This record gives sequence, C-alpha cells and structure tokens, in this order.
Amino acid sequence: MSKRLANIAWETFSALPLTEKTPYLMQPDGVPYHTLFAQQFDYALLDQLATLANEIRAIAKTRVGAEFLRQQVTHKRAMLYFSQPSSRTFLSFVSACQILGVQTGEVRDTAISSEFKGESREDSVRTFSSYFDLIIMRTPEKGLAEHMAWVLSNSDRPIPIINAGSGQDQHPTQSLLDIYTLLRSFERGGGLRDKTMVFCGDLLRGRTVRSLSYLLTNYPNIRQIFVAPEPLQVGTDVLAILEQKGVPFLRTDNFHAAIREADAVYMTRIQDEWDNAKGESAAIDTSRFKFGPAELALLPPRAIIMHPLPRRDEIALAVDSDPRAMYWRQMRNGMWIRTALIAMTFGCEKRIHDYFRHNH
Ligand code: NCD
Repeated sequence: MSKRLANIAWETFSALPLTEKTPYLMQPDGVPYHTLFAQQFDYALLDQLATLANEIRAIAKTRVGAEFLRQQVTHKRAMLYFSQPSSRTFLSFVSACQILGVQTGEVRDTAISSEFKGESREDSVRTFSSYFDLIIMRTPEKGLAEHMAWVLSNSDRPIPIINAGSGQDQHPTQSLLDIYTLLRSFERGGGLRDKTMVFCGDLLRGRTVRSLSYLLTNYPNIRQIFVAPEPLQVGTDVLAILEQKGVPFLRTDNFHAAIREADAVYMTRIQDEWDNAKGESAAIDTSRFKFGPAELALLPPRAIIMHPLPRRDEIALAVDSDPRAMYWRQMRNGMWIRTALIAMTFGCEKRIHDYFRHNH
C-alpha cells in the first residue's frame, strides 16, 4: 500500500484527493511516515494507536517503566517549528518526545529566524532536516506541511513531518486525542458506536472539527450534529464527505435540542484570528452557543463535554467540576497519543508491546 512520495511530481501529488494521497505518506507496514491529515487513519490504525497509548501510559507509571520508555528513541532529535501560537500542542509534543528520549529543538518566532532575512520556507525546512530527524510543524498556511513533506521526501535527507495544525484546514493529532478520549470515555458505555456527537461554535474555521468529523466516520453509526450561527456553520467540504460515506448529520442552530440527544458535546472557540475585517466575528450573535449550568442540566447523565482548548467564555467555569467535563483529561490523553504516534513513526511499537506483555 505504501507508495513513495519521491516518485511523484508535486503538481500531480497535490491535485490528488486526500484519500489517494494517503498511500504516499505511509510506511510499508501501514503506519504513518508523514502525519498530515486525518484521512490517513482508519479504524484499525486508530485502534493500534490507542492500544499503544494505553500501554505507554501504564508502563510510564513506574520508574523502571519510564526509564525503559526513555531509552527508546535516544538516537533521534525532533524540531518543533511553530509559527502560530500554541501552548498545549507544543508542550504535549515536547513531553511526548521527552517520554521517549527524543531530544528537541524549536523555532517559534520566525521573526528571529532566517526567514526574516528572506529565506524561503523550503530552505528553512531543509536546514532543519540537516540537524533533526523529525519536524513537528504548526503554520497558519493550509497545505504547507504537505508541501514540506514532499520537499523533504525529495531531498537527500528525507525525514518525517507531523502536522500540528495547518491553517483552518487540519489538526490531525488533535483529532487523534479526541478519538482516544471518546474511546476511553465510552469503554463501558458500549464503545464508540451508535452515538451522537454534537459540535458547537465556530465550525467553519475550526480545524479540529474538520479532522475529527472525518475520523468519526471510521466508527459505526455516529451521528454528527453541527450547531453554529449560520455564518460560522460547518463547511460544505466536511458535509460532502459525510454524505459520501452515508453518515447521518444535521445542521442546526438549536443547541438545547441537540444537547438533549448528545453522547458528546464538542465545544469550540470563535476563531476570530481569521476574520477578514476587524470585528467581523464580534458582529455575530454567539450568545446561544455557550455551555453553562442551564446546558449542563439538559445533558444526558452519561454524556461528556469536550473542548480542544483554549477556551474563552464558551464553557462556563462552573461546568469544570462536573464529572462529565472531559477537557482537562483530553489534554493529558493528547500527550499519550502523541507519544504513541512518535513511537510508531520511529518503529519502536513492537519493543513497547513486548515490554508491556512481559511486565503487565
Ligand atoms: C486548537 C487549534 O489550535 O486549532 N487548539 C489546540 O491545538 N488545542 C483550537 C483553537 O485554537 O481554538
């Protein structure tokens, strides 16, 4: 199934639909080499990742276990190239690297890098690849991580790229941690099947929603309800995929009705950094798209509340102490699933399984 990104011209590759790009991004054993978008992950691969993450977090509980994990990738270095604000994603990737013994370097402000002197992104990324063995990259530009993956695969030092958020487009590792959170939350509730997922907020410009909506199509009978003010409703590209896959969905602005039917509510922030004109988002009435005590009262007892964070006022502080609030645990899950992804990328999955089998 693996095809080589070095054997295809950029123009040909970039014109392919995402699902047809996938084989070019995978290793021969079916795990990701470059991780660029959610379409690379199917049910089996998600299961494999979640299992590995569960094993890693169990192993990491003891000092000897943590030391074993720290020995796994000591020969590799990772570069975190974040030209967009980030706290959680950045820190969870740094932590994930530390858990596996991967050393890290970072560029977070391109104003103090050579890009400021006019160096092209291509040249910058090739420079990173001279010193590092993995690039973890967040950028405001859609498709840049993909182009850089192609550039690197066609250079004399090909190294993998992990997309840590690309513009308004995709945030594949956020959706991995979201899926991992759902899997863990519904472990005793029949698993991730026959559920209703409610997305609320800025669904047009939120990249986490685009990635997660796709990943959910891997699971049986997950209905998706999109609740947003009309100007921020989910994009037609997302809906086209759901239609094509026969996934039931609903677009609505009736948040309360949706909450009553929810198994999970996924809140998002208004992404006003993407406004075309100043005050564009502020002019939209978002008051009915917030989660507070009144919404909590409508939420079924076994449902959960998620948020990729950072939050503003779309979830009231009073909600935090409710056992159904999952957003803090979601963050910690992110560290473990990213550790699993890096372990897979560097081919140490089997050693971790073996250690787990012998010691747990
Ligand atoms: C999200 C992002 O950057 O897309 N944050 C994150 O990675 N946890 C969501 C957001 O910024 O609203």
